[in-house]
Amino acid sequence: MSFEKDFIFGVATASYQIEGAHDEDGRTPSIWDTFSKTKGKVLNMDNGDVACDHYHRYKEDVELIKELGADSYRFSIAWPRIFPKEGEYNPKGMEFYKNLLKELKAKGIKATATLYHWDLPQWVQDKGGWEVRDNIKYFLEYTNKCFEELDEYVDMWITHNEPWCASFLSNLIGEHAPGKRSISAAVKVAHHLLLSHGLVVRKYREMGLKKPIGITINLSPYYPASNDYKDLIAANNGDGFLNRWFLEPLFRGRYPFDMINLYAQRIDDFSFIKSDDFEIINEKCDFLGINFYNRSLVEYDPNSLLLHRGAYSDYKKTAMGWDVSPNEFVDLIKMVRKYTDLPIYITENGSAWEDEVEDGRVHDIDRIEYLVDHLRAVEKMNELGLNVKGYFCWSLLDNFEWGFGYSKRFGIVYVDYNTQQRIKKDSFFKYKEIIASRNK
Ligand code: NOJ
Repeated sequence: MSFEKDFIFGVATASYQIEGAHDEDGRTPSIWDTFSKTKGKVLNMDNGDVACDHYHRYKEDVELIKELGADSYRFSIAWPRIFPKEGEYNPKGMEFYKNLLKELKAKGIKATATLYHWDLPQWVQDKGGWEVRDNIKYFLEYTNKCFEELDEYVDMWITHNEPWCASFLSNLIGEHAPGKRSISAAVKVAHHLLLSHGLVVRKYREMGLKKPIGITINLSPYYPASNDYKDLIAANNGDGFLNRWFLEPLFRGRYPFDMINLYAQRIDDFSFIKSDDFEIINEKCDFLGINFYNRSLVEYDPNSLLLHRGAYSDYKKTAMGWDVSPNEFVDLIKMVRKYTDLPIYITENGSAWEDEVEDGRVHDIDRIEYLVDHLRAVEKMNELGLNVKGYFCWSLLDNFEWGFGYSKRFGIVYVDYNTQQRIKKDSFFKYKEIIASRNK
């Protein structure tokens, strides 16, 4: 494979999914602690109390990244470690990230830090969480502190990870914390996440700081199950629900009107959206982060507010039941180029499979195939001039896969949760080989 020598190869994780140490050094609960300890929310009632114990084993994990030869490590900062209570900054919590960043620096690994990967402090949720516009001030207080303390060690900042998940999946579909089922809550949360993104970027610029800063959104290209007109409507609405709802405000200064019309059947007051907000949401970033996992094949569903549902597809599926679709990955990035010419980073891409340890090895051939095919797709994007600057594999480690608990393994390193032993899977060695063989 051929990649430019400044192409960034990385691996990604997120705080709640790997850190554990849920009550150490002053950390208070996040909405994911509360949610995972509520019956019926997470498979097997798994939670992040211990997870991969990365909080205590970060040196060993950084060593793995070093061995892999990755250029950059994408991780997230746990807000409840930094502000465990209203107005109370916790230097002890910050110290962990300083130590992690110093360790990365010492090993020559760049750092990509995500400020919000879903672990909202429970105390902020108790004040209405992201539904309440005024609560954005707490996010700004927290992110300012991160900028002040950590900017010198960070190479790239990401404000939010997958705002669709933090809004619609969490507040309409109810599968993620805080587990609500309300369209008006979801639309409000999405709006305030976007607004907070713009405000944080503005603040970062005002502070005179210069590292690249952007947002990561999760996108999927939608296809109709047939040429039937109704299925075309379904695909349009799927695209509006997941993709355009974020791309349009970020790059065109408005929400898609077709979707607003649908939501207006259930929301009678849109006054939480102010016209001036779009100027803030539009604040120019340095790059766009995209998380891609699969395409979406959909058909018309008259009983759903969004008029679509997933359709039968004969594609190969990962353990998540997601279509393996590297060709459609290229289609997606072509589509995104209609919105922006910012450099693009693939901030997550990866796959879960039923891994098994045999004689101390994990022969994860499906993950290798997925990785290679998706990297080929990225190579093709760059041949087409689509300007993709980097690729972060999800994930360095098997970890807490949200509502699926520890049942789904995405890592290129296997984690034995009984012993916390790390076992490099075959995909680890394959990725290492690809990274090592890039154009010099
Ligand atoms: C996206 C999320 O950012 C990450 O937290 C999650 O584990 C992966 N997708 C896999 O579902």
